[in-house]
Amino acid sequence: MHCRKCHQTAAFNMRHHKLALCQDHYLEWFVAQTQKTIERYKMFGRDDKVLVAVSGGKDSLALWDVLLQLGYQADGLYIGQGIDGGIGYSDLSRQKIDIFIEQHTGVKLHVVDVDQVYGQTIPQVADQHRASKPCSACGLIKRHIMNRVALEEGYTCLTTGHNLDDEAAVLFLNTLRWQTQYLARQSPILEATHPGLARKAKPFCRFYERETAAYAIMRGLDYLYAECPYAVGSTTITYKNLLNELEDAQPGAKLHFYLSFLSARDAGFLDVVTEDVVLNSCDNCGQPTTSPGLCAFCRLWQNRSIGKDTHVIPVSVSLVGTPVMPVGEEIY
Ligand code: AMP
Ligand code: FES
Ligand code: ZN
Ligand code: ZN
Repeated sequence: MHCRKCHQTAAFNMRHHKLALCQDHYLEWFVAQTQKTIERYKMFGRDDKVLVAVSGGKDSLALWDVLLQLGYQADGLYIGQGIDGGIGYSDLSRQKIDIFIEQHTGVKLHVVDVDQVYGQTIPQVADQHRASKPCSACGLIKRHIMNRVALEEGYTCLTTGHNLDDEAAVLFLNTLRWQTQYLARQSPILEATHPGLARKAKPFCRFYERETAAYAIMRGLDYLYAECPYAVGSTTITYKNLLNELEDAQPGAKLHFYLSFLSARDAGFLDVVTEDVVLNSCDNCGQPTTSPGLCAFCRLWQNRSIGKDTHVIPVSVSLVGTPVMPVGEEIY
């Protein structure tokens, strides 16, 4: 197979685009496609201050690398979750980010260590609430911290490395459950519709996971291959596997599923649902919440001694034994 641009041997083939490219042309294509996505969804411009949430995995490190290449002002944010899982998962992910910083001199990284700031690691807080796995507490805590750092540090857009496989799997799950409020909020760009909300963008939402992996490998980025130890057997992975089977039989099925959903939503399919959502400000931290009073994040930590810079005031009601987190994605 040959590169469509220069006719040398192709390094990567994308069946869904009917496009094979050599390494140099693939890297060029990938960067150009990212820029197109940023423009298509009006994500941010050269004057914006962009915060990239980096986990040490291929997607977020590739995203940071591409944004820097494109000349955006892009700083990183790493959240130390305190996950060991028998492999020192969080330590390893931090090491990969440190390597990235060594290779990209002059970049700025914010680090929030959950244990240091809030007094417990994510697995510990999940245990305290008798959750069988920390994943849902983890998602809630990460979203809260990302939002908080973006707002407090004056970033005009918060970006994450979510790829098409991630987006299609969440879409599939929410569709099967007809979670219309979650569907209404699933988008490549989320405007700051509330004073406590940062603007959010997913510039890799149109890339297949294998495309971001190919980019990271060809660019020589040293990333953490291991998945989070708690992800094993997760619902998202089940949906990803199902979609992979579909993709094998019908190349492009995942992309079509996701893009058709975005078109349907733009055509007004979910407008009624969107109008129904009322966002309140959390009494404690000011971040948006769908229920009046405290947001889910503050409820999770109440009765804990919390670090000074968290802007969280002590709360007296105990929630031990009551459900603290909704299943699935938060609405905001
Ligand atoms: P995940 O929720 O693990 O699938 O990750 C989705 C995206 O969230 C990643 O591409 C990153 O942009 C971001 N992210 C995940 N974990 C972290 C972390 N520990 N620190 C900062 N950002 C993260
Ligand atoms: Fe959060 Fe696995 S529990 S990444
Ligand atoms: Zn070529
Ligand atoms: Zn709160």
